[in-house]
Order: sequence, then C-alpha cells, then structure tokens
Amino acid sequence: MLSEDENRYLAEVGPGTPMGELMRRYWMPIAAAAELEDNATKPVRLMGEDLVLYRDLGGKYGLLDQHCSHRRADLSYGYVEETGLRCNYHGWLYDEAGHCIEQPFEETAHPEANFKEKILIKSYPVEAKAGLLWAYLGPKPAPLVPDWDVFYDQGYKQIVFSHVPCNWVQCQENSIDPVHFEWLHSNWSLRMKGSTGPYSPTHLKIGFDEFDYGFVYRRIRSDTTEDNELWTVGRVCLWPNALYTGNHFEWRVPIDDENTLSVGWFLDNVPGEEPFEQERIPYWYSPIKDPQTGRWISSHVMNQDFIAWVGQGTNADRTQEHLGDSDRGVIMMRRKMVEQAQLVADGGEPFATIREADLNQKVRLPRFADGGALPGTASRALRPFTFQAGQPRAITEEMERIWVERGGSVAVAAPSQGPIRLDGRA
Ligand code: FES
Ligand SMILES: [Fe+2]
Repeated sequence: MLSEDENRYLAEVGPGTPMGELMRRYWMPIAAAAELEDNATKPVRLMGEDLVLYRDLGGKYGLLDQHCSHRRADLSYGYVEETGLRCNYHGWLYDEAGHCIEQPFEETAHPEANFKEKILIKSYPVEAKAGLLWAYLGPKPAPLVPDWDVFYDQGYKQIVFSHVPCNWVQCQENSIDPVHFEWLHSNWSLRMKGSTGPYSPTHLKIGFDEFDYGFVYRRIRSDTTEDNELWTVGRVCLWPNALYTGNHFEWRVPIDDENTLSVGWFLDNVPGEEPFEQERIPYWYSPIKDPQTGRWISSHVMNQDFIAWVGQGTNADRTQEHLGDSDRGVIMMRRKMVEQAQLVADGGEPFATIREADLNQKVRLPRFADGGALPGTASRALRPFTFQAGQPRAITEEMERIWVERGGSVAVAAPSQGPIRLDGRA
C-alpha cells in the first residue's frame, strides 16, 4: 500500500515530474515506420507533450511541437517538403532541429529582417529501428536505441497499437505478474467458452531477479519443475516499460498521466529453411471496446490484460490495495522506479541505458528455446493471432500465403477459439 503522494509520484510523467524525468532518459516507440509512408505526419502525445511526427520528402524524420510558432496552427495538418514540415496556415517551414527555415511572406516583405532566425520550436530526435520509430525526450547526449537480438530474427513481424485509457504504471506492473496468467488468461478464457473446468495448472512458486535490462520472473506450476524453462529462463519485465516473452514485445508508452499507448511487436518464425525477407513490417490499430455493447473486448490475450488495467481505474489507487506474496515483483519494480527517479534527480545515469555502440549489437535477452521463440522452432501451422482483436484481413491473408508457399499450413480455428498458451506466451 502506498500513500497518495507516493502513488502520484509513480504515475506522473509530465516534464519536470520525477518519474517523467526518469522516463525521458529512454527511447520510446511511438509509431511504425510504415505508418509515415502512408501518412507523412502523425500527431503524437507523449508524456503529456503534444508533438507532431513527420517524414519529409527527403526521408528525414522529425518530431516537433505540434503548434506552429507563428500563430499556433496545428502542424500535424502541415505538409512535408524535401526538407522539413511546412505549416499549412501561412507556410512557415521547419527542419527537424526545430529551426524555421522559410517564412514566405516575411522574406518577401522584409528580407533584411531575418525574422526566421529568431524562431526555434521544440524538437526531439527520432530513430527508426525494427520497423518502429523511436523518440527521445531527454537531455543530450541521448543513449542508443537498444538493439535487441530478436529484432534480427528471420520471421514475419507485425506492429499493433492500442490506446488504453489508464496510466502506464499499472500496465507495466502487469509485466512482472506471473500469477495473473493463470486466472486472467487461462481460466477466464475457459469460463468464457462455457466450460467450468478443469482449470489450468496452478502456480506453486514464483521468483524474481534483476538483470542488466530489467527483471526476470520465474514460475513453477503444478505441471512443471525447476528444470522447466518457465523457471530456468523465465520471462522478461524489460526496463522501464515493456514485457518481452521471447517472440513479442509489449511496450506501455505513457501518452500522459491517464492514457497509455500499447505498442506490440510480434514475431512469427516462418516455416522452411529458405531466407525470408519482409520488405515492410505492417502495422495496425487494434480496438479495445466492442461498439455494439460498449464493453471491453475480452476475446484476445492482451485485451484481457487491458481489461484488468482499465479496471484498476484511470490511475490505480494504491492507497487501497493489499499486496501479497504474488506481488513481490511489483514491489521490487516500484522500489527500483523510485530509486532511479531519485538518481536522475541527483544527476546520475539511470539503469539500463546503453551508450557504447559496440555493446549495442544484437543485445541478447533471456529467451525460451521452445514455444516457437527461437529460429528453427517454428510450428509449420500458422496459428490464429490470439494477442489482440481485429487483425486486418490483408495481414492474415499475407501470412497464410507465406506459410503455404513455404510448405506450412494454416490452422482453421477462429481467433476467439484459439489456443491460450502459457509456454512461449507470457
Ligand atoms: S500559424 Fe503557422 S505559418 Fe502561420
Ligand atoms: Fe497478461
């Protein structure tokens, strides 16, 4: 149980807040690279700051204040030029460093005034990696965008976004919570299908350890022993705001104190030995509410997580909770967050940033060998996408075509009937 002040301390991400300053020391995934090919600008709210992300005609990315410095028009409706983003109201043009590089009428009327040189708007660096665009809102020099080993795996990748209307911390607490899988996913799914049992193997023992890039959580269930990878390898609660399971990441990106962008990056190893190149990592937005009933969608694994998070309230009231032994990991993570926020406030370098290029090459994270997480262990049958609701037909069909072409097959079960697996999942 926390005090109200401690609860607020954990949750607030705006500029100048302790946790906001800590989170600004890390790169955040904010869009898919393919998204900017479809639309050159994207409004982005990140840690309470309203910004516009763009890709100019020269292929350069920028992340600027959403409002033009002239009379505050919305730059997300601007248009990109060979270099930079032009405001659609009076044509002021900005480069990726926030400099105003053209002011059409002012330059005609008073070329000698050089008014544009007095204009500088907020700008942040953007980098592309693994089909994602990453933003860094902290002080320079920025650390490196982590180069995780799984980014290089040969397989079909897809990026899925959902807007979750609650604070990011309760989402990330779910990344270090092994027991929930049994109840929220396995048993609830069973009940939703109309069955009353048998319930899934129960958790007998859980363990948590810190490592270089976060925490590992381990479990022994009534059907596993200490030899099982659920215990020997475990799952990764990736610092500061992600879950990593071996074949997918889920980042919980703070939009502001009351909203989170869920960014899923999923890998399916393709069948067959021949090299596989994916030209474009597709992206899609997954709905979380059923428009017919107004209720949250519960058919898919991550949707079930979202239900738990939003159910805790917009900001979980930790003054009212009762933590038990299952929450040892959550407590460990909260302590680390407070410790690290204080370290940053004291001018220190926080946990798990990577600054040396030769240490940032295919950085290995703990990973299961089974469950389809490693190359060469792909199931030949394409399984329905069970993580998030609403996979576009075009993506399903592209995957089916690839699987069949490479000698695999396609499972026929509808996603809502799909297997809810623990191994290789969460
Ligand atoms: S408001 Fe942007 S150019 Fe005038
Ligand atoms: Fe979950």
